Amino acid sequence: MSPYTLRWGIIATGKISGQFARDLLVDPSTREVSDVAHQITAVGSRSVESAQRFIDGLKKPGEGEPVAWGVKNGGLDKVRAHGSYDGVYNDPNVDAIYVGTPHNLHYQNTKDALLAGKHVLCEKPFTIDIEELDDLVAIAQQKNVFLMEAVWTRFHPIAYAVDEVIRSGKLGKPKRFAADFSMEYDLDSKPDSNRFIDPALGGGSLLDMGPYPSVWAMLLVHRNPHNKDQTPNVVSSHQSIYKRSGVDLDSRWIVEWDGLCRGILTTDLTAPGLRENTAVVQCEEGDLIIEYPPQKPETFHIIPRPDRYIGSIKEKTTHHHPVHAGNHGMSYEADEVARCIRDGKIQSERMPWEESKVVQRWFDSVRKNGDSATKGMKGSVGH
Ligand SMILES: NC(=O)c1ccc[n+]([C@@H]2O[C@H](COP(=O)([O-])OP(=O)(O)OC[C@H]3O[C@@H](n4cnc5c(N)ncnc54)[C@H](OP(=O)(O)O)[C@@H]3O)[C@@H](O)[C@H]2O)c1
Repeated sequence: MSPYTLRWGIIATGKISGQFARDLLVDPSTREVSDVAHQITAVGSRSVESAQRFIDGLKKPGEGEPVAWGVKNGGLDKVRAHGSYDGVYNDPNVDAIYVGTPHNLHYQNTKDALLAGKHVLCEKPFTIDIEELDDLVAIAQQKNVFLMEAVWTRFHPIAYAVDEVIRSGKLGKPKRFAADFSMEYDLDSKPDSNRFIDPALGGGSLLDMGPYPSVWAMLLVHRNPHNKDQTPNVVSSHQSIYKRSGVDLDSRWIVEWDGLCRGILTTDLTAPGLRENTAVVQCEEGDLIIEYPPQKPETFHIIPRPDRYIGSIKEKTTHHHPVHAGNHGMSYEADEVARCIRDGKIQSERMPWEESKVVQRWFDSVRKNGDSATKGMKGSVGH
């Protein structure tokens, strides 16, 4: 049977849109996929020249890569450059829209696309606050169209392998959790308009990097069969401030899954991340440890308790699950979107709205309890 082909419109021509678009053009068979395929039928930018440049760039080989398989196999044959995002929302040759604009625009862009009847995959963080996210979910339900936050890590081979371990029950109940996403980013050399520096763009470490420790909180604890608490709360948090613009240099917050587990999540723009233990869950029978980087790890370890005669896990084991060669890691989330739309679903069971909402509420809480310039930032619902 021929695969279901999803026709994508790409909104914005920045860095991550380029990576996503290139991954749409990777041969699906290289990641053992034959039931779905992708075409890019529209690209929207604030100028038509930029949209065209983006398309022309996709036709050329990537850095150290050959011309994409999709370019030679019809993936760009019907593509159209639009000098506005509206052009893409209203393009009849587009089924689903990828939103790759800065954080503060996600809500409006996604809303406009949903109202035009398009399915949407929106970059993380989904929105600025929970009110915006609630509104988008209500619109998707009302229009009966698919909506998902682009948390690509959830669809990587390692994420499914970790799930299998968690579901097997061999680690027992989770008791403690920690996850980090840090990078040494030279903020001082960047202009005020940089999206990490400008508070108006939702700058700082929390909103940009927070989704990644949160992925592992969701996969290792929240979705753990032992967890019954669907609304784990932030019980304490702290942010350090970048004096130049007032955004958060680092954020740390403690979350409690009632009666089960406590976790600490950290983001930091001043230090390189922890290499060997970017995320750790400590369970009754042993620990599961994920190696750096949290957005695209390939290796995890299962480690016995120090008092190993007590737990059932006696030896350390190492498990390697790389993304498939030639793939940046974003094709998997695109495959999920295509399958859900093909099957008439409006949300993904693997990346459900409810879990995006849990994480969004954490960010709201950390911001409101901190002292950064985004403390009082409100999304645009009702404004
Ligand atoms: N999943 C991931 O791993 C990942 C990685 C990086 C970033 N992201 C997310 O993707 C989003 C974009 O990040 P990025 O690194 O691609 O950013 P970027 O390179 O700065 O690109 C953002 C694009 O948005 C458009 N835009 C519209 N209004 C803008 C404005 N006022 N200021 C700046 N750009 C504006 C521009 O495209 P046009 O000129 O074409 O309109 C610009 O190229 C962020 O929300 C980020 O969190 C996700």
